[in-house]
Amino acid sequence: MRIFALFLSLAALTALPGCLQSTAATAADATVADTSGQTDAVSPGGDATATTVVWQTNPTNAPKSVHLTWQHDPATTVSVQWTTAATDLAGYTPKVWFDTAANAGADGAKMTFSAAQTASGTGEYYYQSLVSTDTSGQKYLTWTVEVTGLTPDTPYVLRAGSWTDYKAGAFVAPDLTTDVISFRTAPAKGKRQPIKLVLAGDSRGGNDLIAANADRLAAIGAAFWVFNGDFTDFSMQDQWDGWFQAMAPILHTTPLMPVQGNHEAFPPMYYGQFALPVNAGVPDTYQEHAWSVNYGNVHVVGLDSTSAAAASDEAAWLDADLTAARADADIDWIIVAMHYPAYSACTNHGSTAWVQKYWVPLFEKHNVDLVFAGHDHDYERSWPWVNNNKAAKGPVYVVAGGFYADGYTNGHDIWTAVSEHGNKHNYVVMTIDGGKLDYTAFSGDGASTLDTYSLQK
Ligand SMILES: [Fe+2]
Repeated sequence: MRIFALFLSLAALTALPGCLQSTAATAADATVADTSGQTDAVSPGGDATATTVVWQTNPTNAPKSVHLTWQHDPATTVSVQWTTAATDLAGYTPKVWFDTAANAGADGAKMTFSAAQTASGTGEYYYQSLVSTDTSGQKYLTWTVEVTGLTPDTPYVLRAGSWTDYKAGAFVAPDLTTDVISFRTAPAKGKRQPIKLVLAGDSRGGNDLIAANADRLAAIGAAFWVFNGDFTDFSMQDQWDGWFQAMAPILHTTPLMPVQGNHEAFPPMYYGQFALPVNAGVPDTYQEHAWSVNYGNVHVVGLDSTSAAAASDEAAWLDADLTAARADADIDWIIVAMHYPAYSACTNHGSTAWVQKYWVPLFEKHNVDLVFAGHDHDYERSWPWVNNNKAAKGPVYVVAGGFYADGYTNGHDIWTAVSEHGNKHNYVVMTIDGGKLDYTAFSGDGASTLDTYSLQK
């Protein structure tokens, strides 16, 4: 066993550039071997005669593309997902080992182990295909663990890995070489305290620029990110892997909630890699395409705007969801994210008729505060816009589709308050403090301000 554990350790250190120093890995592996007291009876494929359990970090099972979303309450849960090169679904159980940063240290160096500090999940195949029922395409595997029962408004650290239980034995100890993920749970619903979030979309192969900016963007310290789709050019797995790798400084510190863009050309590849809320009332075909979560006093809605059918079929749920949010005394702000914009003066794509037909009346009816979209690779903000006219109050429509995709020429129309060419790239940082909302649109390099905007309840 010790020989095998050392092999795992060396392999993991070679395979994981972001791993901890080798001394931690050696100590962890030594603990596994010493605690189990087993010898070399373990094989990577699983050996029913052995009794040792090992947190797998050899190259084919090392977790990669680790990231966080929410399927349920952001105050008490977080969903952790990753992929592995190996696609042995039966042989492994995904585990997350977690603790508060107060106990474990912000870098996780002081994490102690107990079974109570672990959560298990499931593995699921996804395929490079147009619909999830088509399993003829290239097969991939995503691991998902939802950690529940967390304390609101509390910093946590965690490690993730795919664990082999060779003989239903007790979980001995995780491998300290896996990357440490940090995050903070949301304040309890309705609690009014400052919340910072980032909204961005349309990377479309801009992974090198993401990587060049990712440390700075992570340092913004957002509570969460909302991503408005078009992650990759063609939705190939190597492009997804590149996106997750470039985004790692952000994804390893911040949950990210996405919506589907039209360049998620193989939707199962996108939905396979992002675990999202399954909201009652969303038609089965569009589960996870349309979702909502509450974060403090903010209601965030994600929609699939990439087809008229999606817009039509999601409308009834959207109406009910917005009705409930507006009736909720805990909620002050409603933010909607989608890919295709309701209003855009950009000549490349422009406004979306089906969004205007099916959803704009609902945004106006329920006085949605901000509607963020992408698709056009520029920046544009509308006036408060109601019944196709400038209004004193009403939904404000933003196109921020320049998260390092090649820029488009911007335009102006009757709704346009601010418009910027996409060659500067862009992202939006928003701060909500009780009844005050401030946001700033930055150029992609963060060096210049494209727009500032404030709302007061
Ligand atoms: Fe797009």
